[in-house]
Amino acid sequence: MSKVTVVGAGNVGATCVNALAIREIAGEVVLLDIKEGLAEGKVLDMYQTATLMEFDTNLVGVTNDYEKTANSDVVVITSGMPRKPGMTREELIGVNAGIVKGVVSNILKYSPNAILLIISNPMDTMTYLAHKVSGLPANRVFGMGGALDSSRFRGYLAKALNATPNDVEGMVIGGHGDTTMIPLIDKASYKGVPVSQFLSQEKLNEISAATMVGGATLTKMLGTSAWYAPGAAAARIVESIINDEKKMIPSCVCLNGEYGQKDIYIGAPAIIGRNGVERIVEIELNEAEKAAFEKSAEAVRKTNNVLHEIGAL
Ligand code: 2OP
Repeated sequence: MSKVTVVGAGNVGATCVNALAIREIAGEVVLLDIKEGLAEGKVLDMYQTATLMEFDTNLVGVTNDYEKTANSDVVVITSGMPRKPGMTREELIGVNAGIVKGVVSNILKYSPNAILLIISNPMDTMTYLAHKVSGLPANRVFGMGGALDSSRFRGYLAKALNATPNDVEGMVIGGHGDTTMIPLIDKASYKGVPVSQFLSQEKLNEISAATMVGGATLTKMLGTSAWYAPGAAAARIVESIINDEKKMIPSCVCLNGEYGQKDIYIGAPAIIGRNGVERIVEIELNEAEKAAFEKSAEAVRKTNNVLHEIGAL
């Protein structure tokens, strides 16, 4: 029986647990939060949907009791502050670095063999930090961003095409930041046909820009950062791990020479299975995409350097 822990019972963590439960992805899902009663309450509420949504997943909510997370196969870390309207994800680094470090060390005490999936922002840098402080091999620590950004991209494309998002293929690589994301417009397709055959370049540029600020747009509308798509993106990745699906999912992965980069966590397509990141897929980028990737990596590195400045690494 598989066990998954989600740390952080805020909107994203709770939505992720809900998706894991409804889709019966794991036998047991533990939700942990530092706020007394929050995880217990959210899980109790979800458990009371079991007969309505017809799922049998065992749900456990705990306040800071890491013992209950023991022997988890996958741990999703959502802990930390979400952004407020007008904030960038990078501005959260000071607060969230300490929180993520603490969570990683507590988790590993009880689940030394777990795969860690990081959602906390700034996600590329928090994933890099989790990798460094955990000492785990890179395949067992990765981040969620690309799955979310690609889903938003496919959604925006589908709306413009008047199609269902599931008939649209598209990937976003690079960093999970408003200016570091790279929607791969030239490679996007509608049932295998390049989207440029249906949409003007102007429209495609508009979609690309909307995708890049997809999270910020929602933060402005909601007063806090989004949760349905971030939670679902994490659950979808967990599903590919637990069921060893080997799906190709754009994720925040550790590059070791791929795309000309080293010692960095950044978005790239990867095969996700029972061993976590089983393979990084190196796709051919055109000159503009290559230049964008380099610029994106440079920005992510700059944020990573802040970890040293604040003494987190
Ligand atoms: C977002 O893009 C939470 O960073 C996440 O909505």
